[in-house]
Amino acid sequence: MDKTLVVFGAGTGLGAAVARRFGEAGYRVALVARDAARLSALSAELAGAGITSAVFPADLARTAEVPALIDRIREHFGRIDVIEYAPITTDLFVPAADLDVATEQHYLNLYLLTPIAIVQAVLPEMLTRGDGGLLLGQGVGAIRPMPGLSGLGPAMAAARNYFLTLHAELAPRGVYAGALHVAGIINGSAGHRAVTGGTVAHGVDFTRIPLLEPSDLAETMWTLFTKRDQAEETVPAQPGR
Ligand SMILES: NC(=O)c1ccc[n+]([C@@H]2O[C@H](COP(=O)([O-])OP(=O)(O)OC[C@H]3O[C@@H](n4cnc5c(N)ncnc54)[C@H](OP(=O)(O)O)[C@@H]3O)[C@@H](O)[C@H]2O)c1
Repeated sequence: MDKTLVVFGAGTGLGAAVARRFGEAGYRVALVARDAARLSALSAELAGAGITSAVFPADLARTAEVPALIDRIREHFGRIDVIEYAPITTDLFVPAADLDVATEQHYLNLYLLTPIAIVQAVLPEMLTRGDGGLLLGQGVGAIRPMPGLSGLGPAMAAARNYFLTLHAELAPRGVYAGALHVAGIINGSAGHRAVTGGTVAHGVDFTRIPLLEPSDLAETMWTLFTKRDQAEETVPAQPGR
């Protein structure tokens, strides 16, 4: 097995868990985030579990740099079979009434335009093979707008629209595209640490939001990719969805 997964936004929560889940299934893993030291620590942890990985520090808000980043990953691993895209920071919420163009431009780069650039760069080889995976991780704000929690929501909503359209177009051509919407706090993530440390506020009572295990979410992503019978899933399931 020489398949390669690229985790875009490889942090301590979902990114690390997806790397482990696919790694356990035999995938080699390319790890992308900005903090090179943390990526190296994750890579060493994966090596301890017998998983081959390599680190590619990059700022995914810099959409124009995506083609060169993909070239570096392909040069190292030879091929890209699956991408998982779910970068997130803790400075993420802006009330819609306060949102300005410059702020939203950043979110559009990070959550919509960079994924489009990545798909442009990796899709041709997937279509040539007639197999591949494009996996998007998001907050539930992409499908359920919430007061005070705008900013990334509009950009994520656009990315969801894009991935659902990709799903319909690419399924007959052997490539899976789909989205996981996270409607809880991810245990062990930077977001979890910020919430429990009180550095994220915006009037939300985070104690009422379910705590989710990243390994369970990674399993859901694995199931979406391997079963290919759903374009998206929300965890935990939301009323009416
Ligand atoms: N954490 C939660 O409680 C929570 C709640 C609801 C929804 N979600 C969703 O679940 C998904 C996974 O969240 P997670 O917290 O578990 O993520 P994670 O895998 O722990 O971390 C994501 C990583 O993205 C990286 N990142 C942020 N901005 C970046 C940029 N400009 N360029 C490159 N990398 C960047 C950060 O690393 P660097 O700082 O090193 O770049 C961060 O460690 C996300 O889609 C998020 O919206 C999470």
